[in-house]
Amino acid sequence: MIGLFDSGVGGLSVLREVRALLPQADLVYLADQARSPYGTKTLLEVRDAAEGASAHLLERGATAVVVACNTASAAALRNLRDAHRGVTFVGMEPAVKPAAAATRSGVVGVLATPTTFQAEVFDDLVGRFAAGIRVLAHPCPDWADLVERDGDDVDSGVIARHVRPVIDAGADTLVLACTHYPFIASQIAAAAGPGVTLIDPAPAVARQVARVADGSGAGTTTFLTTGDPARFATQITHLLGIETAVSRITI
Ligand code: DGL
Repeated sequence: MIGLFDSGVGGLSVLREVRALLPQADLVYLADQARSPYGTKTLLEVRDAAEGASAHLLERGATAVVVACNTASAAALRNLRDAHRGVTFVGMEPAVKPAAAATRSGVVGVLATPTTFQAEVFDDLVGRFAAGIRVLAHPCPDWADLVERDGDDVDSGVIARHVRPVIDAGADTLVLACTHYPFIASQIAAAAGPGVTLIDPAPAVARQVARVADGSGAGTTTFLTTGDPARFATQITHLLGIETAVSRITI
């Protein structure tokens, strides 16, 4: 079984890509909505939450865990791998490398939570892959909550407020470095205007999951939340178009 977790609905953007590549895999998706959002918490708080979510998935029999959250990956991936040797962890990282290859203006915008930018991982990526490129790290502290609340029906003004400064500074490529953001990609693209490339790392992460995890099983998907199961079920229907049961768990 492959476990996936996020603070909320964001990781569903990764789940749908994994499901498309691994139709037989048994997937368990855990939304830690009692602690959502992760992106404005300290690195230590996010590390604790990520450990709790991972431990729960491993107890249920996961042989691989997808940290379907940039914030938790940035804060905790290294610690999770150290703490659970022998378990395969696949995480998210801001797609700085493909963005650096794609930009023509030489300016790239990275949209993520504040905590993702606090972790060392981000500066490492820029140092390794973006020589000669201007990388604008733009925190969007309110977007994950917006997607949790409104799904993809978010107010376009709130989107433009974060997108416009980055575009006005010359970016022609935007990295969606939070798994909630693919659900508002069309609003981000509209605010950015023509000629701007959006990069969503979810398909590449799903390919990595397909390479390293066991994709055999009966093709089941189990949804869990630490929050309100009825609300999460409604969110899943809205964002993925499927009707499903959700169980509440405590961590
Ligand atoms: N979806 C998450 C991410 O990729 C976390 C958003 C949040 O909880 O703040 O960063």
